Amino acid sequence: MPHSRNEILEKVYSAQTDHERRDAYDKWADSYDRDVTGFGIQLPYVSAAVFARHVPLGTEPVLDAACGTGMHTLPLALMGYTGFHGIDISAAMLAQAEAKQIYDDLSPMALGRPLNLPDNHFEVTYCIGALAHGHAPPESLDELIRVTKPDGLIIWSTHAHRNERTKVFHDYRQSLSKAGSWEPVFETESFISMPDGDPGIQHAIYVHRVIS
Ligand SMILES: C[S@@+](CC[C@H](N)C(=O)[O-])C[C@H]1O[C@@H](n2cnc3c(N)ncnc32)[C@H](O)[C@@H]1O
Repeated sequence: MPHSRNEILEKVYSAQTDHERRDAYDKWADSYDRDVTGFGIQLPYVSAAVFARHVPLGTEPVLDAACGTGMHTLPLALMGYTGFHGIDISAAMLAQAEAKQIYDDLSPMALGRPLNLPDNHFEVTYCIGALAHGHAPPESLDELIRVTKPDGLIIWSTHAHRNERTKVFHDYRQSLSKAGSWEPVFETESFISMPDGDPGIQHAIYVHRVIS
């Protein structure tokens, strides 16, 4: 069964290996911002609003995990937030992010594998649009927790429409709460995140506080 009837989205959601993910986004990078703007993307607005409600200005460093072109982080930079460190699997997406001049540094790194980042380092970890099939697996959250300071926040999104492909992310989210690794602080209502791209795709944005 296809993941999306949208041809561009289907290419990225159906990637099965890191090589395929990198390749799909490397090929999409030049037109990504234009295409998702055409899809009516809501994530940058909603995620920036959630971030601004929970993170005081001046809080840094911030890990922007799967930062892409940085389009969801640009509103935060314009509001005065600083100290962004971006990682992404796609060098071409990182090059687009670099052009926005809002990051302290940008490095190629794959979620779902051990991250070359220190323990308990980031005040906030921000991960939007990446915890999804074809992208970063649920277990990526373990590494995001490891690199975030105790009491630091993880602000992240996943698909909110429920099916067998999205359920694993919700099961994992709840298992981390049960294990005492993090606690839920806030979650948005579900919203259609790309109304003109694929109205069947919903997202929610979550805020979790790291416990250990
Ligand atoms: C939908 S885009 C979102 C980008 C950005 N966070 C935003 O909200 O605008 C997904 C991004 O995740 C990256 N990505 C996909 N799988 C990844 C993985 N396993 N590790 C790191 N980055 C990944 C892609 O290269 C792409 O830049």
